[in-house]
Formats: sequence, structure tokens, C-alpha cells
Amino acid sequence: MSQENDLLKNKYSITALFYDILDYPWERQYRQWRPELLKDVRGKVLEAGVGTGRNLKYYLPDVQLTGIDLSPTMLNRAEKRAKDARCKVTLKQEDATLLSSIPSNHFDWIFSTFICCVMPDQLQPLAIQQFSRVLKPGGRFRLLEMIYSKNLKVRKKQERFAPFVEKVYGARFDRNTLHYIQNSENLKVSTTSFLKDDVYLLIDGVCEKTTINLSGLKDREDSM
Ligand SMILES: C[S@@+](CC[C@H](N)C(=O)[O-])C[C@H]1O[C@@H](n2cnc3c(N)ncnc32)[C@H](O)[C@@H]1O
Repeated sequence: MSQENDLLKNKYSITALFYDILDYPWERQYRQWRPELLKDVRGKVLEAGVGTGRNLKYYLPDVQLTGIDLSPTMLNRAEKRAKDARCKVTLKQEDATLLSSIPSNHFDWIFSTFICCVMPDQLQPLAIQQFSRVLKPGGRFRLLEMIYSKNLKVRKKQERFAPFVEKVYGARFDRNTLHYIQNSENLKVSTTSFLKDDVYLLIDGVCEKTTINLSGLKDREDSM
């Protein structure tokens, strides 16, 4: 694991103890959005940075969900919320920049809320590369992130909060997630929209890759 992720994991071992209380003022807003964001998410789904499991109860019953997080303390909280989920949930400690336990071309969907704003910029391309690897061809992704507003009044308010947000959550408003996805070879952004002001950025897209049938290649080699 990278040194940055080690630090983040340590941070969350403390933050997890207060996470739901600290986040409550924002969660009152987020909980209006979460069911809407999940209403068309189907099949085998990876939730990256599942946190304390705030999304779990909104997945549709036929979803097979794998929720991963760097922090075992956050996952402990998610385990409790998994009991209220309507779908099958598997939670595991995993680093989104590695996804070492996850096979390629496995998921129909990748869903995440507020993981990339927490992830150091240099690690984001690694996570995006992993998302591309584990998504099936034609698999879809939906990421919700927060960014700085262009509205000066809103931005000033964000700047006041920024040191707290970084200290407690490791999150920043100046991450370049959309840019990294746009630079990805296989992940194609289909829509971007804002859920509130120009702060809560929703990125939707599809994995456009073809898989090489390795067994087919081997058959050809054998017959040559
Ligand atoms: C701000 S919280 C969001 C939690 C949850 N998604 C929500 O909407 O409430 C960010 C979460 O991402 C996790 N995280 C950060 N970097 C990660 C990584 N590289 N791999 C897996 N999880 C990561 C953190 O441990 C934390 O639980």
C-alpha cells in the first residue's frame, strides 16, 4: 500500500468513530440523493469507498454488491448497515488503487460517492485504471464528487471549510477526477451534471473496451 493510503487509513481509523455525527449536516442532503443515484444500478456492482455504508439500503434487491474500503474501522460500521440492505452484500478491505482481490471484467457497475475527492491526485489515475480493469466491456460507472464552485460566494464558504474537510476526511475540493477519467483509455464519460450548485459533480460513463480472448489466442498458437 502507498504511504499516502497508509496515512489515509490511519486518519479514518479515528474519523470513523465520529464520521456519521460529523457528516450529519451534509447527510441530510445526501440521503435525498442516494436512492435516486442507485435506481438504475443493477447486476454485479462494486461500491468503491463504501465508508460507513450510507448507500447500502438503497441498492435494488437483485444487485450483487461488493463494497470495498481502505479503512477496517469504516467497514465495521458498514457491516451493521449491511443488515438493512435489500440485496446481497459482501464487504472487504481493499485499496481502490490496487483491487488485488478482484478479477478483471467482473462488474456491471462501479458506483461511488466521495471517494475521489479523498484520494490524493497522484493515486487517482491508478484507481481509474483499476475501475477500467474490473468493469466488464459495456459496464457503467457513476461517481459523485465535490469540487470548488465558480460562484465566489459559495467558493469563499468552501475555502473556510477546506482545512477542516482535509484534516478530518482527507478530502479536497480541488481534485481533478473528471480530467483523469477523460484521460483514461477505456472509461468514457457519457454525462456530467451537478446535483447542487456547481459543487456536487455527478460523473456517469461507460467502459468501452474489448477483451482479448486469451484461450482463443492460445488455440491459434497451438495449431500453428
Ligand atoms: C468521504 S468517505 C465517503 C464514504 C461513503 N462513500 C459515503 O458516501 O458516505 C471516503 C471513503 O473512501 C475511503 N477510501 C479512500 N481512499 C480509498 C482507497 N484508495 N481505497 C478504498 N477506499 C478508500 C475512505 O476510507 C472513506 O471510507
